[in-house]
Amino acid sequence: MTSAPADRLDETRLPPGPRGKWGTTLQLIRNPRVALERWVKQFGDPFYFCPLNGPVVVTGREDLLRVIHGQDPSIYEPFASQTTVPLLGPGSMLVLSGDRHKRERRLTSPMFQGERMKVYGGLMQEIAIECLLQHLERSPERVLTADLMQDISLRIIIRAIFGGDDPQLAQRMFVASKVLAGRANPLLFFTPRSHFSCWGWSPRDRWLKAKRQLCDLLDIAIEARSRDSQPRVDILAMLCQATYEDGQPMSRGDIHAELLTFLFAGHETTALSLTWAIYHIHRDVRVQQTLRDQLDALPDESPTGLAEADYLKATIQETLRINPLVTETLRKLREPLDLGGYRLPGGMGLALATVLAHYNPETYPEPDVFRPERFLERSFSPFQYMPFGGGHRRCIGAAFASYEMAVVLGVLLRRYNFQLLDPRPVVPTRRSVTMGPSSPVPVKISPR
Ligand code: HEM
Repeated sequence: MTSAPADRLDETRLPPGPRGKWGTTLQLIRNPRVALERWVKQFGDPFYFCPLNGPVVVTGREDLLRVIHGQDPSIYEPFASQTTVPLLGPGSMLVLSGDRHKRERRLTSPMFQGERMKVYGGLMQEIAIECLLQHLERSPERVLTADLMQDISLRIIIRAIFGGDDPQLAQRMFVASKVLAGRANPLLFFTPRSHFSCWGWSPRDRWLKAKRQLCDLLDIAIEARSRDSQPRVDILAMLCQATYEDGQPMSRGDIHAELLTFLFAGHETTALSLTWAIYHIHRDVRVQQTLRDQLDALPDESPTGLAEADYLKATIQETLRINPLVTETLRKLREPLDLGGYRLPGGMGLALATVLAHYNPETYPEPDVFRPERFLERSFSPFQYMPFGGGHRRCIGAAFASYEMAVVLGVLLRRYNFQLLDPRPVVPTRRSVTMGPSSPVPVKISPR
């Protein structure tokens, strides 16, 4: 059992948990579900441990998640800023806290919701079909779903943010974003000790170089926009015109930081979820047929109709339940918190274990079975189902991503047959902070 940090013994009572920094960190990187479930079995929920990024108390219990989200957000700050700030920059929403964080969210969240989001429906479908045709042309017998979905979601987010009138710049951003995503070595996000420099070849050096290249392109786009007076509806235009509550416009630095955050947080997540969806749908003939029947019964391919198709929606929800990309969301306490009979000190991290909540057999009977019907039979609380996190840091792209998944899957499945080419099971594997499929999911695609 581990004990409380020595200088806090008078005021804290921590739950038991596994010992060691490196071993626990590596287990968490390698297979978070297996590690977390084993530790809960051994020590109970909540439990305490101290990975390389700092001490954390972990819970997947609904009652405790409710307590955590019920607090005033001012008692929290981002976890592991020492690791994330050097990678993402100090202005990224992912690392901001307090009033500045609230201010950025209030300004930018509406850009990814409601009617504004629906403007992109037709475009999402067009891009999905265009990318699929390109992949089929290159490789008619074997398309890698992960590559296809990355192309689709990256082109969609770039188009939604920057509009469509500089295809060359968009193409350069597409390449630079892919390079950056490919350099997101998990260790960089799990320990500041991996942040060393080595003649340009360490993981950190390679990440920073790729980030600089993408940032240069963002500067070009912002500069061009500042000289342009055309009326536009893309997200960059909204950022340039937006004003905070005190009437001040966003600074160039703020705009730059948000663009980078949207590209980083907004494309790989959706691409990996779409890949998982294709995999699960085509592993199960019954799911595939039910989905087909529903899609075929729709009068047309209108994005609104697809986004409202209930079995498609349930399939997407079940995909995000069974394969949450972020297996635990993190916070750091600024002040003490009483949780589950323990007194946690200020400075302690909290890990809200999505993967534990999503595999709780009391909430989800036979949790390893992919069964979209569970989302049609009942609803789940935000403390039982949380693929987009929760509370004051809940993903601002949740509505956009869910809409994109429905519109893209809907149009592709209505027009094409997908056949899995590899019968072996695909399991979650670590990407960066996210967990993606262990295989690129090769498929044969043919028109219906
Ligand atoms: C299926 C796709 C996606 C998944 C599964 C996902 C998941 C998440 C999760 C788990 C968080 C952390 C929430 C928390 O700490 O409670 C998050 C944060 C965030 N996501 Fe997403 N995301 C997706 C798509 C997107 C898209 C399309 C955008 C577009 C901009 C986006 C932008 C963000 C931002 C800016 C944050 C930081 C919010 C904050 O700290 O206040 N995400 N996302």
